[in-house]
Amino acid sequence: MKSTKELLRQKKEGAPWTKHEMSSFVEGMVTERVSQPQIAAFLMAACTRGLTVQETAALTLAMANSGAHIVRGLSQQPRIDKHSTGGVGDKVSLLLAPLAVACGLSVPMISGRGLGHTGGTLDKLESVRGFRTGLSIEEMESFLQHHNLFMAGQTHELVPADRIMYALRDVTGTVENVGLITASILSKKIVEGLDGLVMDMKVGRAAFMNTLGEACALAESMQAVCSEVGLPVTFVFSRMDAPIGMTIGNWLEIEEAELALATSAEKGLQEITIELVAQMVLLGKVATSIADARNTVAGVWKSKMAHSVFHQMIARQGGSWNESVAYYSTLIPAEIVAATDGYIGEVDARSLALATIDAGAGRFVESDFIDHAAGVRLLHSAGSEVRSGDTIALAYASDDTKRDVLAAQLHSIVKITAAPVVQEPSLVIDIWS
Ligand code: URA
Repeated sequence: MKSTKELLRQKKEGAPWTKHEMSSFVEGMVTERVSQPQIAAFLMAACTRGLTVQETAALTLAMANSGAHIVRGLSQQPRIDKHSTGGVGDKVSLLLAPLAVACGLSVPMISGRGLGHTGGTLDKLESVRGFRTGLSIEEMESFLQHHNLFMAGQTHELVPADRIMYALRDVTGTVENVGLITASILSKKIVEGLDGLVMDMKVGRAAFMNTLGEACALAESMQAVCSEVGLPVTFVFSRMDAPIGMTIGNWLEIEEAELALATSAEKGLQEITIELVAQMVLLGKVATSIADARNTVAGVWKSKMAHSVFHQMIARQGGSWNESVAYYSTLIPAEIVAATDGYIGEVDARSLALATIDAGAGRFVESDFIDHAAGVRLLHSAGSEVRSGDTIALAYASDDTKRDVLAAQLHSIVKITAAPVVQEPSLVIDIWS
């Protein structure tokens, strides 16, 4: 049996690990036989040398088996989940999970925190006062059996290996790697005991995969692992250049999602949410064609059933909505005012995300405290006409100095153009099912 040091030296030289070496390394991570510097060294070597298809599959399965799996129980509903490869302003899961449940699916959603410059569903949910993302397995199973929904994170019981690696990848610049992304996402999905998975494959300047070619390579890697474990999967490729919806920041995004379920969403957010839920409905065989599935989702959205499902889930997991609204409504935003007449340009999501992280919305190191209030509310969509003196965006942070620095940065991020920008008609680029 090789020592961890020897294994790492081998990986540095580019030699692949066997299935047994990978599972022993992952088991060592969880039992703390393998140290944090050794895990970081593995992550960096995986990025520079790459992981083979076999190594990726071995890593995914070892991570999934690093903790317990959620049992099927008595629930009859098709168990379908969706996961995104990471975006900016990506609050889709917050709308999608209640909509999917209202359409007749069971959704065990294990999400992540902010990763790199992208936001995480767990950080968003934790902006709700009292909300618990660290559920026990018994709670997850009971919520699924009785309510068809929970939204939670990796714990020391459930995919602990992803919990450890996720946090380390975030602070060591080792996020953008096909094998590591595949293993991180699919280990969480395998333990959910799913009947099907819909993957939102983000492509663009603010995604981890900047080109369609890179996103396809990631989809192929994920497809190979899904085939090995017998998990049906649909890939939806969608643009990630501009933020999704009108807000970026943890509480602001929760608020936008809640309002969208009660009324309707910004055009792009609505389009991508309906498409992803419709693909889930189709995978779960609740509809027989994608056209029927889209109609079902649109009808359920109008009925506001999903809005009730959202609030029930928040309350069940300890969150207090009214207290949260009261708390965040005391914050005074800084206004960003148009300096000229013109049209709102396409907002660069990556620059916007980095500016909001600086203001406290994300982490630089693992122990960083998140300011859930920090973020930006865009008041006009790209292409809208504005006049000099109009307020075009609002910057929020609990710390006034950070809020004002964010506001100053927004002047160069939310640009005003002389002519309306030409926009792509749809966020969805392609679908593989
Ligand atoms: N989401 C995850 O859960 N893991 C990744 O590596 C990227 C996105």
